[in-house]
Amino acid sequence: MTTPLLHLDGISKSFGKVTVARNLSLSVRPGEALGIVGPNGAGKSSLFAMVSGDLRPDGGSVWLDGREVTDARPYARTRAGIGRTYQVPRPFEHLTVFENVLVCAHQGAGLKGRQAWTQAMDVLERTGLAGLANTPAGRLTLLQRKRLEVARAVGTGPRLLLLDEVAGGLTEPEVLELVSVVRQLHAEGLSVVWIEHVVHALVRTVSRMICLAGGDVVADGAPRQVLADPKVRELYLGSGPETELTDAADAADAADKAGGPGDTEATGEERA
Ligand SMILES: Nc1ncnc2c1ncn2[C@@H]1O[C@H](COP(=O)(O)OP(=O)(O)OP(=O)(O)O)[C@@H](O)[C@H]1O
Ligand SMILES: [Mg+2]
Repeated sequence: MTTPLLHLDGISKSFGKVTVARNLSLSVRPGEALGIVGPNGAGKSSLFAMVSGDLRPDGGSVWLDGREVTDARPYARTRAGIGRTYQVPRPFEHLTVFENVLVCAHQGAGLKGRQAWTQAMDVLERTGLAGLANTPAGRLTLLQRKRLEVARAVGTGPRLLLLDEVAGGLTEPEVLELVSVVRQLHAEGLSVVWIEHVVHALVRTVSRMICLAGGDVVADGAPRQVLADPKVRELYLGSGPETELTDAADAADAADKAGGPGDTEATGEERA
């Protein structure tokens, strides 16, 4: 069996009476694209924080490619191959787009001189930002800021890319533009874990989905299966996102007809 790229082994975390992880275990295979859904406050961003090292679990352990990183500092996890975006992008506003990514190639990936420069340019191309290289980050539109957030994470040279609501607040055509960037990054070999309320963006990109609620994984499987799960539907019942689930299920049907998103390594049988 392949060693998981990421493995969370029975992690738990509470903030006072709020439990964000309850003996939670989860694995991500190399090459996988995994989507995470769940209601507001479910603990999704906290989960990323425990993977990236911003937050320490109260119990359990975090493993990257078979090596325990539970006690590793965030910068060490970045060097080990974990790149993440944040729900609220905070680029260096006065630096240009290129300089923002260069900092990540330099400090995150540990590259020097021309190598860092080349990596930053390459990442700008791959995220559709090359034409904005010399624009100060503070002048970007929301979609451009979201692209830059992805570019900064990719600039650190990760194997595992963690995306936290990068499609939030975008118009429909903008969501589709971002989906195409993420799909391309995944096709190039990056493993992706994407938290998103814009569920139809996920079904266009991932081959597996989990739903988090109350610190637990309440559903885990193919997107269509998870979206149809009565436990998941109950969580979204009567809310705006319920419509989102129906739209997403339609998008899943369309993706199936078009050949669907795939893992870069996993076989169809391995998918849950
Ligand atoms: N550092 C912290 N200190 C105290 N409480 C926190 C902290 N971080 C998160 N929380 C609480 O933990 C719960 C889960 O927060 P988290 O941001 O992980 O949720 P989420 O699933 O990402 O929600 P959303 O979909 O709104 O982004 C919330 O009730 C939040 O207020
Ligand atoms: Mg969040």
